[in-house]
Amino acid sequence: MKVVVLAGGISTERDVSLMSGKLIYQAMKRLGHQAVLLDVYLGIEREEIASIFDSEEDFSKDIGEIRGINPDISAVKKRRGDGGRCYFGPNVIAICQMADAVFLALHGADGENGKIQAAFDLLGIRYTGTDYVSSALAMDKGLAKELFVANDIPTPGGIVLKKGAAPAEKMPLPCVVKACMGGSSIGVYIVKDETEYERALQEAFSYGDEVIVEQYIKGRELTCCVLDGKALPLVEIIPKKGFYDYKNKYQAGSTTEVCPAPVDEACTRRIQEISERVFQVLRLKKYARMDFMLDEQGNPYCLEANTLPGMTPTSLIPQEAAAVGIDYDHLCQKILDMAF
Ligand SMILES: Nc1ncnc2c1ncn2[C@@H]1O[C@H](COP(=O)(O)OP(=O)(O)O)[C@@H](O)[C@H]1O
Ligand SMILES: [Mg+2]
Repeated sequence: MKVVVLAGGISTERDVSLMSGKLIYQAMKRLGHQAVLLDVYLGIEREEIASIFDSEEDFSKDIGEIRGINPDISAVKKRRGDGGRCYFGPNVIAICQMADAVFLALHGADGENGKIQAAFDLLGIRYTGTDYVSSALAMDKGLAKELFVANDIPTPGGIVLKKGAAPAEKMPLPCVVKACMGGSSIGVYIVKDETEYERALQEAFSYGDEVIVEQYIKGRELTCCVLDGKALPLVEIIPKKGFYDYKNKYQAGSTTEVCPAPVDEACTRRIQEISERVFQVLRLKKYARMDFMLDEQGNPYCLEANTLPGMTPTSLIPQEAAAVGIDYDHLCQKILDMAF
């Protein structure tokens, strides 16, 4: 099968996406597909693209490690010779249209907010993962919370603040301040006092015009993937220091993940049921990963749904799939099959 693995882009999660993309691309090749790895924003400058799927070249050779927070996006933008008015880089759309399917390895705003999915629907390009409506609902943490509350899905109490508008109410401290459209814990701050609160608001607003302020849930962190409508075993996430921030997500060895999570049967079932309900409420399709906090009394709270969850060496969905006997390559093939 001709498969494009689409990664990179200009979101804050660019480096993570390139790492997911590299691994998925290598899996596609091992599975015998004619695979091309493309950076959605940089594309590929070349005269002749008709035979690109027959090429023997290694499209992943220049992809290195995940570097620190905030990749230098302006440097990436400078690399585009055409000024970059169109989000899609040179030849990206044409090559995607030649493929049987596009494996989306994008993370962050463009990629997870539904715009690419909507564009691909109109361009007749088949892609992995959920559709544009559910992507947009899940990406907006404020909108998703409204849907959780309306559908009795337990979630931390929270309010949405708009840039420049006076807040109508205030969350008691400690609380969590988050950019509404973020991911990978970029723009997420756990705040204990007023000074930290003001600084967190300022930083969170640098990522977008809406910020969510949420009740802080002290306890354990769990995550649950839904694959093809069915929940997988849970993972417990135990950062060695602090919370599950960007560094603890991607620096090998900084977090212990335990799968299946050592929580009792009833709690496991409850979180799996909530995850399957979140999947329905947000109109999700194919697969997604739901993040949870479990408070000290054992009550679960859903934080969010991730529509294109990470596929890096430390990522969670590959660990959950492995717990039910689905290895990395098999998982990639399953995600690809669901696109048809
Ligand atoms: N209400 C909360 N209480 C406690 N910790 C939280 C809360 N919200 C987020 N966190 C911490 O911040 C991390 C990132 O938050 P999350 O809502 O999942 O956003 P992201 O899209 O960045 O992953 C979580 O994995 C968790 O460790
Ligand atoms: Mg999360």
